[in-house]
Amino acid sequence: MDIRIFETSEELDQYAAEIFRKLINEKPNAVLGLATGSTPVGIYAKMVEDYNHKKVSFSGVTTYNLDEYVGLTPDNDQSYAYYMNKNLFSHVDIPAIQTHLPDGMAEDPQEECVRYEAMINACPADIQLLGLGHNGHIAFNEPDEHLSAGTHVVQLKEETLEANARFFASIDEVPKQAYTMGIGSILKANTILLVVRGSDKAHIVKEALTGPITTQVPASLLQTHPRVTVLLDREAGRMLG
Ligand code: F6R
Repeated sequence: MDIRIFETSEELDQYAAEIFRKLINEKPNAVLGLATGSTPVGIYAKMVEDYNHKKVSFSGVTTYNLDEYVGLTPDNDQSYAYYMNKNLFSHVDIPAIQTHLPDGMAEDPQEECVRYEAMINACPADIQLLGLGHNGHIAFNEPDEHLSAGTHVVQLKEETLEANARFFASIDEVPKQAYTMGIGSILKANTILLVVRGSDKAHIVKEALTGPITTQVPASLLQTHPRVTVLLDREAGRMLG
C-alpha cells in the first residue's frame, strides 16, 4: 500500500487530480470508478480546472459510479447522478453515454444489479476512487457478518435515514434502499485510490489499513488488493505510526 499524507487538502486534491490526468493522458479511453460524498468534491474541482486549462480531455473516458439511491430520478438534487453532473460531468467533455450509475428508477432492482455488474465485469476500472465511512464502509457496504461480492440493493439503516432526512421535505421521502457495488466489484479495479480527510476518521483509517481484515470493517478488505494508493490529510493520518 502506498500511503501519502498531505499537509493541506489543496495539495491532496492536486495530487489526486494529477493521478487521473496522467492516467487519462496515457490512456485516453481509461475507465474511471467514481465516488460521491464530500471527500471527492475538491478533486473533481481540480479535474475540471485541468480540463479548462486544456491539460486533459475526457472525451474517450468511461465512468462507473459506486452507488445510487433506489427511487430517485437523475434530476433529483439528492441523487448521485445529479451530484456527478453538478461536480464533474457537466463541466467536462465526457459524452453522457459514457457515464454510468445504477439506474435509480429501474423497474426491476434485481435485474438492474445484474445489468450493472455485467457492465463492470466487461469493462473493469483502471482506477477506482473511494471515500471511507466512519464505520469503515466503502460504497454502501456496511459492517456486517457477511458482505456481498457483486452489485446489490441495500436496506438503509434507520440512523442513515434520519441523517439524510434533513435533505428532504419529510423522512418519508428519504430513499430506504440504495444500489451499491459489492466488495468484489470494487476489488476488480486495476488500482484503488482511497481518499480520507479529517481527524474524525483517523481511528478508522488506522483500523482499516493496519488492523485485521474483517467484514466488520469493510475497507480492511482493501488490504488484499495489490495496488492501493491512500491519500490522507494530516488529520486523517495522525494515528498512523
Ligand atoms: C459515496 C460512497 C460513500 C462515501 C463515504 C464517505 O459514493 O460510496 O461510501 O465515500 O460515506 O463519505 P464522505 O466523503 O461524505 O465523508
